[in-house]
Amino acid sequence: MIPASVIEDIKYRNSIEDVISSYVNLTRSGANLKGLCPFHSEKTPSFTVYTGDGHFYCFGCGAGGDAISFIMRIENLDYRGALEFLARRCGITLPEDDGGREKGGVSRNRVLEMNLCAAKFFRNVLFSPEGQAGQEYFAKRQLSGATIKHFGLGYAPNSYDALKKHLHSQGFTDEEMVAGYLCQRSKKNEKNTYDCFRNRVMFPIIDTAGNIVAFGGRVLDDSKPKYLNSSDTPAFRKSRHLFALNYAKNHTEDGFILCEGYMDVIALHAAGFENAVATLGTAITADHARIMKKYTDKVIISYDSDEAGQKAADKALRLLGEAGIEARVLTIPGAKDPDEYIKSYGREKFAEVLRGSLSGFEHKIHKVLAKYDLNDFSNADIKARAARELCYAIADTESKVERDIYCQRIASVLNVDISSIKSEVTGILRREAAKRKKERHTQVVRITSGSGDRVDPDFVKAPGNVRLEGAVIGMLLLHKEYIAFSKDKSILSPEMFTSELNRRLYEKITGTPDFDFGMLSEDFTQDEVSRAAKMMSDRKGLSNSKEVFTDCAGKLREMTEKLKEKQDGADLRDIIERRRKEATNNRK
Ligand code: CTP
Ligand code: MN
Repeated sequence: MIPASVIEDIKYRNSIEDVISSYVNLTRSGANLKGLCPFHSEKTPSFTVYTGDGHFYCFGCGAGGDAISFIMRIENLDYRGALEFLARRCGITLPEDDGGREKGGVSRNRVLEMNLCAAKFFRNVLFSPEGQAGQEYFAKRQLSGATIKHFGLGYAPNSYDALKKHLHSQGFTDEEMVAGYLCQRSKKNEKNTYDCFRNRVMFPIIDTAGNIVAFGGRVLDDSKPKYLNSSDTPAFRKSRHLFALNYAKNHTEDGFILCEGYMDVIALHAAGFENAVATLGTAITADHARIMKKYTDKVIISYDSDEAGQKAADKALRLLGEAGIEARVLTIPGAKDPDEYIKSYGREKFAEVLRGSLSGFEHKIHKVLAKYDLNDFSNADIKARAARELCYAIADTESKVERDIYCQRIASVLNVDISSIKSEVTGILRREAAKRKKERHTQVVRITSGSGDRVDPDFVKAPGNVRLEGAVIGMLLLHKEYIAFSKDKSILSPEMFTSELNRRLYEKITGTPDFDFGMLSEDFTQDEVSRAAKMMSDRKGLSNSKEVFTDCAGKLREMTEKLKEKQDGADLRDIIERRRKEATNNRK
C-alpha cells in the first residue's frame, strides 16, 4: 500500500487542472473548468473540472474521478502505474513495495549520522573544481559565500555513484542509503543502487535540534523536476518540518514570515529577515501550523503572487487561524516572489511591504476592491455592487465584535453611512439563516424523492435510500472533516447502506487512515469511482453544512429501519404463505 502522505504530495504537486489540460482544452466556466470529454465523443462540452476539490465529472458519459483515476483511464494504467506516472511528473519517488522492511531496520540516528556525512560531502564538492557548476549557479542567484556557509548549501555532482562511494567509505550500507533517501534501487536489478541527487544544488533541512533530517535539491537549468526532496524517512516527516526553522525560531519578535520556497527564505534571511520559514514541497498542514504556534502567535504569509500562490494563501490563512495564530498576508507588487522582490527593490522596500501586510479580512476586501474601478465609485451602481459583496464578506465573519469593526471600516472605505452597511449585513445574516433553515428541510426531501442502474444494481430496490446514501457519501468526500464524526455508530454505520456499492464506499472512506479520494482507485472499478465522483458533483452548489449532513444521516437511519420493518414483514408474510401452502398440500 502506498502511504497517504505520498498520495497527498502527488496530488498537491499535480493539480487536476494541470494534469487534465495536458489532454483536454479547458476553458473557464464560472468557478469550474469545462472541455470536450476525452472519454466519449461530443460537440458541446459536458466534461467539468472542479479545481477546488480536485475532481472531474462528465455529464455526458458519467466518467469521473480525480487526477489519479483520470490518468488510469486516459493512459490505460493500473492504480500503481498511474501513481508512478504522476510521481515521475513531479519528481517524487514512490516507496518500493517492500520499502517498509528497509526502513524498519534502519534507525533514525543512523540516518542522521549519514545525512551529516552527506551534507559535508555536498559542501566539499561545491567548493572543489568539480563543483564549479554549482558555484556558478549560486553566483547567478546572488548568494554570498557567507549565506552559502550559513545554510550549509552544497552541490551533488553529476554522477550515479559519487555519494554512494563516499558513504560506503564511511561505513554506511546500501540499505541505510536507500532508507535515508540518498540512494535508490535500480528498477532493472534490485541489487544495484544509485545516487538520488545528481547535478543539483543541495539544501540541507535542519531541525530545531540542529540535526540534518533531509535534503532538497534544485536543478541548475529549466529541466524537470525543478526540486527533488527527500521523501519521508526514519528521520523525517515532511508535514512536520519547516525550512530554516532552526534559525527563525530565535527571531520571532515580529512573528514568522511564511514563504513557498527555499530560495525565498534564503534571500530573506540574507537581507536580515531571519524569521522567514517555508514548507518543504508540500502545502501547509495543520501540523505545520501547530509547530509555528509553539514559537509565535503571528505569521505573515508571503507566497508567490500568481493565482496558485494566492489560493494557497487562503488555505494557509484558514489553517493558521484554526491553530490560533493571527495570520496576515502580503501582496508583493511587481515581482513573482519575495526572492525576486528583494533582488529588484532591496530590503527597505520589503520592510515597507511587510508593514503593509493585510489581515485575513482586509485581504478579502482587497480582492473585492481589485475587481472594481475605485475611481468609478462616483458611479452609484458600481459602489452598491461593491458594498453588497463586502457586506457578504462581513456577514461571513463569526464574531459580532469583528463584524462591527469591519462595518465601520467598509463605511469609511466606501464613504457611506455606517448604518446602511450595518442594516445590509443584518439583512444578509437574517436571509442566510432563513435560507439555511429552509435548505435543511428541503435537502432531505429533495434527495429522497425519486431505473435500472448498471453500476449500482441495488438502486432499483430502494431508490430513495440509495440516493440519500449517495448524498451522504458525496458530503463525506467533499468534507473530509466529517469522516471522523461519521464513524460514530449513532450517526452512521455500514448496515444503514442498502446499496452494496455505497456500503463499500462508506467502509473504505471511514476505514482508511488519512483517506484521500485517489485511494478509491485501489479497489473500486473505474465505473464505481466515476459514480463516487458523481456523488460529489451532485452536491456542488448545494448546502453541505454539518447540520445538513447530520439530518441526512438521521433520515437515512429512519428510512433503513422502515425498510427493514417492511422487509421483516415481507419475510413473515412469506413464511405464513409457505406454511399455508404446505398445510394445503398435506391435506391433499
Ligand atoms: N517544489 C517542489 N518540487 C517541485 C517544485 C517546487 O518541492 N517540482 C517546492 C520547493 O520547496 C520550492 C517551492 O515548492 O522551493 C516553491 O516552488 P517554486 O515557486 O516553483 O520555486 P521557487 O522557490 O521560486 O524556486 P526558484 O526561485 O529556485 O525557481
Ligand atoms: Mn523563485
